[in-house]
Amino acid sequence: MGRANKVVLAYSGGVDTSVCIPYLKKEWGVKEVITLAADLGQGDELDPIKQKALDSGASISLVENGQESFVKDYAFAAIQANTLYENRYPLSTALARPLIAKMLVDAAEKYGADAVAHGCTGKGNDQVRFDVSIMALNPSIKVLAPAREWGMGREETIAYGEQFGIPSPVKKSSPYSIDRNLLGRSIEAGPLEDPMMEPPEEIFAMTKAIADTPNEPEYIEIGFDGGIPTSVNGTSLPPVELITQLNAIAGNHGIGRIDMIENRVVGIKSREIYEAPALLLLIQAHRDLESLTLTADVTQYKRGVEDTYANLIYQGLWYSPLKESLDAFIQKTQERVTGIVRVKLFKGSARIVGRRSDYSIYSPDLATYTADDQFDHKAAEGFIYIWGLPTRVWSEKTRK
Ligand code: ARG
Repeated sequence: MGRANKVVLAYSGGVDTSVCIPYLKKEWGVKEVITLAADLGQGDELDPIKQKALDSGASISLVENGQESFVKDYAFAAIQANTLYENRYPLSTALARPLIAKMLVDAAEKYGADAVAHGCTGKGNDQVRFDVSIMALNPSIKVLAPAREWGMGREETIAYGEQFGIPSPVKKSSPYSIDRNLLGRSIEAGPLEDPMMEPPEEIFAMTKAIADTPNEPEYIEIGFDGGIPTSVNGTSLPPVELITQLNAIAGNHGIGRIDMIENRVVGIKSREIYEAPALLLLIQAHRDLESLTLTADVTQYKRGVEDTYANLIYQGLWYSPLKESLDAFIQKTQERVTGIVRVKLFKGSARIVGRRSDYSIYSPDLATYTADDQFDHKAAEGFIYIWGLPTRVWSEKTRK
């Protein structure tokens, strides 16, 4: 008896996931491996990937485009929640995992597989996100993670694959581990493991070096409808197109790079470099529009919700009761987050320079310092008397 009969394997076309195919069959007694390559905008050539899986022993090789759902159902929810893990990382890699898990489970159910598999090792966050998402979506499906158990190093893995006709990588493999999708790139390992080592320019692909960015600022207007970004410079854009355009526009000004030491779910600190131009820009613009349209108490309460929501995404709990409950709160807050935000892009910075909304609760009559002022200044005195009362009593009783 093998560990499973029929398996749907998350497939990237790389050596590790390719080796998973014969490994599952020979070592773990799996009868049939179906591969699934999720196209979330990695920019890979998908036709060769499809064929490579078949050459490596897959019985069916699926390639599915998930970009639209990725932006609409995952990225937009994160933008509405202004999610930045540990205040900085916009979760560009993390957000892809629950969607890939869903695609795997859907395929497993469709093809009658009793397990799904992925090529994650035992040290990262992605294994946690896959495993937990899969068990949340269908607890009767087994999760297999060969690379978590096989204990082979890079060279051994390549040699193992060669026995089964899996070609060793042509290019000398890069020292970096890179994850890429429509929302951004995550780069780690190699020389970056030294936290003092400045990221070399060659690792970036979506953002220009400041030295190469335009010498003139560029202004753009981003439109939101119910907290969802819908237009750029007055032109309505479908979700994938909107992200693609903003990646290009912001990346051209060197916007969207992050260099951080982050706390992984498995307790390890790791150094990661990110570029996520559109996502960071949209979170910044969205938060600004909220400042114009939400009351003070909702804005402040939501900050705590946002932190929790970011942690849930990072920690693999996208499909969880707490996440669903917070969704209900967040959706309610977004009803009037509609309007435009004007941003000035220049030399690596995106500065919000204007915002407008039909639902604005900014009141010029109250805010103005001119003669038009409608605010009742005298009322402030009584307010301050009561507001300061506890402090006054405390002082009277404790001052020596
Ligand atoms: N640290 C990021 C996360 O946990 C990215 C993980 C993948 N990174 C990589 N370079 N392969 O979401």
